Amino acid sequence: MNFKNTLAIAFVLILTCTAVSAQNLVETGFKKAEAQTNLMLAEIIKARHRDSTGVSPRTLSDGQLKLVPSKDWCSGFFPGELWLLYRHTNNAKWLKLAEAYTLRLETEKNNGTTHDMGFKIYCSFGTGYAITANKHYKTVIIEAAKTLATRYSAKVDAIKSWDKKEWKFPVIIDNMMNLELLFEASKLSGDSTFYKIAVSHANTTLKNHFRPNYSSYHLVSYDPETGEVIKKQTHQGYADESAWARGQSWALYGYTMCYRETGNKLYLQQAENVAKYILQNPNLPSDLVPYWDYNAPNIPNEPRDASAAAIVASALYELSGYSQARIKYLKKADAIMESLTQKYMANAGSNKGFVLLHSTGSKPANSEIDVPLSYADYYYMEALTRKYNLEKGKPAIALSPR
Ligand code: GLY
Repeated sequence: MNFKNTLAIAFVLILTCTAVSAQNLVETGFKKAEAQTNLMLAEIIKARHRDSTGVSPRTLSDGQLKLVPSKDWCSGFFPGELWLLYRHTNNAKWLKLAEAYTLRLETEKNNGTTHDMGFKIYCSFGTGYAITANKHYKTVIIEAAKTLATRYSAKVDAIKSWDKKEWKFPVIIDNMMNLELLFEASKLSGDSTFYKIAVSHANTTLKNHFRPNYSSYHLVSYDPETGEVIKKQTHQGYADESAWARGQSWALYGYTMCYRETGNKLYLQQAENVAKYILQNPNLPSDLVPYWDYNAPNIPNEPRDASAAAIVASALYELSGYSQARIKYLKKADAIMESLTQKYMANAGSNKGFVLLHSTGSKPANSEIDVPLSYADYYYMEALTRKYNLEKGKPAIALSPR
């Protein structure tokens, strides 16, 4: 065999291996997630002996599994993971567990003290409804949207994020994620009020949250009497003018979803501009898992945030379906998922069943630094689901039985 032929065969082999590894990513990822979730279930039973008020896992604290009550913003992620496992495996065991863990959160549909309704109710009941069309879930989604809508101010044209005494009317970029619940409730109920609130909030955020380079402030503080912006600042990021990594991920995911729901090209442009900010950021490491803030002072000696990477991957799979730059986004999403699966995955049987390591909750608060977090696992599994769908020629976000 001459040199040219050998080279050609080697090239074909490399291409085949790459294709196989990309194809196997979904199955490898879900197999590991399934095994870890089995462990998590056993750990939850033990943790509930220590704390019977906890309903869902959130993180590890001093090596112990930390459960949170339904009112915690993270309560919906584990039920959501169970739904995604059911959707992928079709195993009735996961269905029963998903139903049980979801119902534990129902009381939150009437909790108007927080903006986190989407995280809690949409990831759990919303995902469950998309898979099963369970009529009860539909009523919970509509009820939850009614409660969330009470936090909307027509003066500010936005939904208030927190009831904290430091601010009169704070809006954080994370709040974009709650709009999906409102869009869904509008479709399910026929009441366009929810849709209008979601669009107003997205427009106000578009106007006030972004810098000229398309990075997002974490928090914009408004005067509820006049609707004027009082201050733009951070809460979980390094500095008021820095780009907190997960905040950029919420922005990308939020505007991609808003484009899907409205067809408004401005939202698509915003999503693409935010994607550019993230993907071309000089401080984004070559493995595509960002440091906790794109402007953290001691890069490269700063903790990573795998959750921010998982959210970006999931958003890019969806965005690829709407953009001219389809292939570019698909390749980046795949590269993030390869990286998370190969380098950030907990060893089998470790970390009380969490799937991904190395996320950061709030560095300034010295809280949840370089730990597993339930939302990293949820968005990782959602991204796997979306990749699977795309490989089957379906829309990324499809959740009806596969
Ligand atoms: N919504 C809170 C966070 O992203 O940490």
